[in-house]
Amino acid sequence: MNIIEMRSIYRDNLSLSNDESDFIYKIILKELCNIDPIKIALEPNFNLSSVSENKLIQKMKMIIDNYPIDYIINKKNFYGNDFYVDENVLIPRPETEELVDWLINDHLKIDNQKRVIDLCTGSGCIGISIDINNSYLDVTICDISTKALKVCEINKKNLNSNVKIIELDLNLISEVNKKYDIIISNPPYLHPSESNQLDKNVRYEPEIALFTPKDNPLHFYEKILDFASINLTKKGLIYLEINPNFTKEFNQILSNYSINHVNFKDDFRGKKRLVKLIF
Ligand SMILES: C[S@@+](CC[C@H](N)C(=O)[O-])C[C@H]1O[C@@H](n2cnc3c(N)ncnc32)[C@H](O)[C@@H]1O
Repeated sequence: MNIIEMRSIYRDNLSLSNDESDFIYKIILKELCNIDPIKIALEPNFNLSSVSENKLIQKMKMIIDNYPIDYIINKKNFYGNDFYVDENVLIPRPETEELVDWLINDHLKIDNQKRVIDLCTGSGCIGISIDINNSYLDVTICDISTKALKVCEINKKNLNSNVKIIELDLNLISEVNKKYDIIISNPPYLHPSESNQLDKNVRYEPEIALFTPKDNPLHFYEKILDFASINLTKKGLIYLEINPNFTKEFNQILSNYSINHVNFKDDFRGKKRLVKLIF
């Protein structure tokens, strides 16, 4: 079968526009078959090997089942760098890039070291992006999931980062030796009642990365603020991604902590999803 005939199979079978279908086809050609998609235009009669053919059909079936393309190619671009991703970690989202950008821009002009901790790091995308963008920021990344921490190790190596990686369960917080100046986190924040509103491909992401306990949608924010109460320096900063559907409840829990300043920011979709706290 040639490269154009396979494109038609994709177009006919994926319930997408031709442009969207071609986009996916080209990614799989390039990333998994090592075939430059320019061949579609330059060599329309290019014959696919049976190995490529089987791979393309098999991956197309996964796409039909809503399996995320980022897991298929084990890659997601985040803040300008390709992160390795697999089913053990959340696929980094563009809203989270805005959170990272906020912290990085706030610290462009620092000339002394600051200690940063990325709680609930998943693939490590937040902490590693910060680390490779500012050498004054001494970054630690942590997660409860040992499988996610293995993904962090891969990304640390691939991206030449110096982050420290530690296993940490936010439910079992203890005092650290040396305090942090900055906490950043995108913790699990979907309430289980929201699960039926999610895109179908989200069901392949780890549940532990998505959902809060049923009885407390603010569970992880309380844990982060408890962590901050004992491990953040005076006037330390906290950058958080929050669930826009629970902003009111989030504001309520803040009154239990001694916070000096709260600054909400809309994400690019106009949702109140990002917040900076000064302790
Ligand atoms: C929403 S994902 C965020 C991943 C990454 N920070 C990102 O923005 O793409 C939340 C992460 O929290 C971790 N997590 C869940 N429960 C935790 C706990 N009790 N302590 C620490 N991490 C936890 C999950 O393993 C998951 O990697």
